[in-house]
Amino acid sequence: MDSILVTGNGPLSGQIPIAGAKNACLALMPATLLSEEPLTLTNAPRLSDIRTMTALLQSLGAEVTSLQNGQVLAMSSHDLNNHVADYDIVRKMRASNLVLGPMLARLGHAVVSLPGGCAIGARPMDLHIHGLEALGAEIELRDGYLHAKAPRGLKGAVVDFSFASVGATENVLMAATLAKGTTVLNNAAREPEIVDLASCLRKMGARIEGDGTSVITIEGVDRLHGATHPVVADRIELGTYMLAPAIAGGEVECLGGRLELVGSFVEKLDEAGISVTETEHGLKVRRRGDVIRAVDVTTEPFPGFPTDLQAQMMALLCTAEGTSVLEERIFENRFMHAPELMRMGAQIEVQGGTARVNGVEQLKGAPVMATDLRASVSLILAGLAAEGETVVSRVYHLDRGYEHVETKLQAVGAKIERIQGA
Ligand code: EPZ
Repeated sequence: MDSILVTGNGPLSGQIPIAGAKNACLALMPATLLSEEPLTLTNAPRLSDIRTMTALLQSLGAEVTSLQNGQVLAMSSHDLNNHVADYDIVRKMRASNLVLGPMLARLGHAVVSLPGGCAIGARPMDLHIHGLEALGAEIELRDGYLHAKAPRGLKGAVVDFSFASVGATENVLMAATLAKGTTVLNNAAREPEIVDLASCLRKMGARIEGDGTSVITIEGVDRLHGATHPVVADRIELGTYMLAPAIAGGEVECLGGRLELVGSFVEKLDEAGISVTETEHGLKVRRRGDVIRAVDVTTEPFPGFPTDLQAQMMALLCTAEGTSVLEERIFENRFMHAPELMRMGAQIEVQGGTARVNGVEQLKGAPVMATDLRASVSLILAGLAAEGETVVSRVYHLDRGYEHVETKLQAVGAKIERIQGA
């Protein structure tokens, strides 16, 4: 298993290109199942999760060709020959469950393994099931698989989500595009990835309004045609790299970044003493002064503070002046980076969904372990300003969501390298 070696090396300077959004691409790829015509995605990120989704779609009979070194995905689902999404693929990546809605809408049946829990939580699918049953699907849980069928096709309905679930909104949105009649999703998720999916579906002929708000209305159509669509910039990769100069000092321009993707995150950076300026090519970030101020953070569905940036923000607050309180309201177990940061000298008290971070002068490099995707990158960020060497092990977590993290950080002056594992 590879490791990453980071050595505190002073202020950063330069530009970091932001890739297409992993979480948008993982919803856009299953959309190919909705049409017999080709769907091509450009600006696709080169990540192991995308390769996992590719393997899953191919196992269903879809053709997925990766072009231009992985930045273009040419897909066609003309001949689907399997409607079972196997456990050994789904368990590796929860987003595999996003084939359920499209397969139901296109084929009238689907068998999808329950993803099982992951490091950050139980990750149930009750909201996905609730929404699809509202559209007339019959769904039964048997031997760890959801057996779903819609013998008479799907029918538009009003769906009330008790929680603004991203995945459930995506699954039901895709299914509703081919349902008969009108579907209204109440308390729908508002993430930019939902808006990106809706804009791609509209290019395919779907009739969708209200994406980006809590109420999305879909008029079902008989069939969808092919399209070409660019994947939206990754706001979580963007926020992650914005924290690099915030933590290590200096100034970095994140190319392709847009303020509207990271609104509430930028407000918190501003409170902490970090300035963000919009440029012609992206977002320029630097510290306003020498001191990082403690801030309180509560994670919420978009447009609130993103849970996927909580671990990275904690890395910044470890050396802030004062005490910061972080409330993790989205997942039940998303502070696994805290004990690793404490090995580097951070002072953090975790109680349930609340972490109190008492800022210290400086962190010290140490061997630490990645536990999940975003926790692993928060350890790298902490290592940028720590005294001495930090070795982050189990970086396969990292490769799921960040392409060439060491290359992008080396380019702005970080002392970081990948150590090939045994
Ligand atoms: C998406 O996961 C993202 N993944 C996650 O990013 C992100 O953290 C999450 O949204 C929240 O923003 C992808 O888009 C591929 P949810 P998803 O359904 O759809 C509970 C990363 O690091 N819930 O909004 O699974 C659930 O347990 C990943 O890139 C139910 O209870 O998130 C969780 O506590 C991590 N029942 C909360 O809602 C359901 O049926 C948020 O889940 C569905 C969800």
